Amino acid sequence: MLQALEQIRRMRGGAQSHLMRCSDGYYYVVKFQNNPQHRRILVNEMLGTKLAARLGLPTVPVAIVEVSEELIRLTPELAMELPRTRIACQPGLQFGARYPGDPRQVTLHDFLPDEQLREVENLHEFAGMLVFDKWTCNTNGRQTVFFDERKVERDEATVRYKTRMIDQGFASTPGNGIFRMRRCAACMPATASIWGVTGMESFAPWLELLEKRLSERMLDEIGREIPPAWYEDDYDALVRLLEQLHRRRPRVPDLILEAKKSSRQPFPNWM
Ligand SMILES: Nc1ncnc2c1ncn2[C@@H]1O[C@H](COP(=O)(O)OP(=O)(O)O)[C@@H](O)[C@H]1O
Ligand SMILES: [Mg+2]
Repeated sequence: MLQALEQIRRMRGGAQSHLMRCSDGYYYVVKFQNNPQHRRILVNEMLGTKLAARLGLPTVPVAIVEVSEELIRLTPELAMELPRTRIACQPGLQFGARYPGDPRQVTLHDFLPDEQLREVENLHEFAGMLVFDKWTCNTNGRQTVFFDERKVERDEATVRYKTRMIDQGFASTPGNGIFRMRRCAACMPATASIWGVTGMESFAPWLELLEKRLSERMLDEIGREIPPAWYEDDYDALVRLLEQLHRRRPRVPDLILEAKKSSRQPFPNWM
């Protein structure tokens, strides 16, 4: 089991996660079970990121990270800031998303100006992320991190930005953190017009994998890897969610067509 060794800093965002150095030598952004959003966002994160990876999407490696009582006791920063009070982070098994590279050397960006965004090497993969977000009913806007890959892969010859998906906390759930699917309203990013979408074929690689590769068995296997404390031992609720995800797959092309036809006209090059 991966152990957290040291807290580095608090991250922004509603889940009040922390950047931590872990026993495999990598750094992870850790979300705690007692985060202010909901315990079950950890399920959505783990399940969502693993499913996105199976769809061939650019994710970061994710892991179950154990944070000890001792580390929390010795690190006063490891606490949730609530409106009128402050409570210590809960020890035990937490969710970790690996930081791409060494945080002392690699600066990440949550956003890029459009001009630089156009230069992102894997910009076309945003279309695949939309397939994922429509499928899992992600009620949060799509979030990614951008980095200059020279600094991550130590290859001075390349200069372009790359992006990776983060924050699947609200995939498969409405805001209250219960596993029920809802109509997806929020997941059409304003930058869609520059993804280079020219028609349904721009989504085809991911739609095909969704149909062919995401079997019920695979969903079940991924479900079993999740610590039961994250879903409060309600295994039936997890199974219902997995079944819903499986059944929802054929609806995704229509959901994309619907997004295309919306009055905001997100894809100007799709005639
Ligand atoms: N794997 C990661 N690598 C680097 N930075 C990350 C990673 N995951 C999250 N972050 C950073 O931490 C912030 C909070 O993470 P996020 O998953 O968006 O949590 P929240 O649910 O609080 O919005 C993000 O805005 C991003 O800057
Ligand atoms: Mg976020």
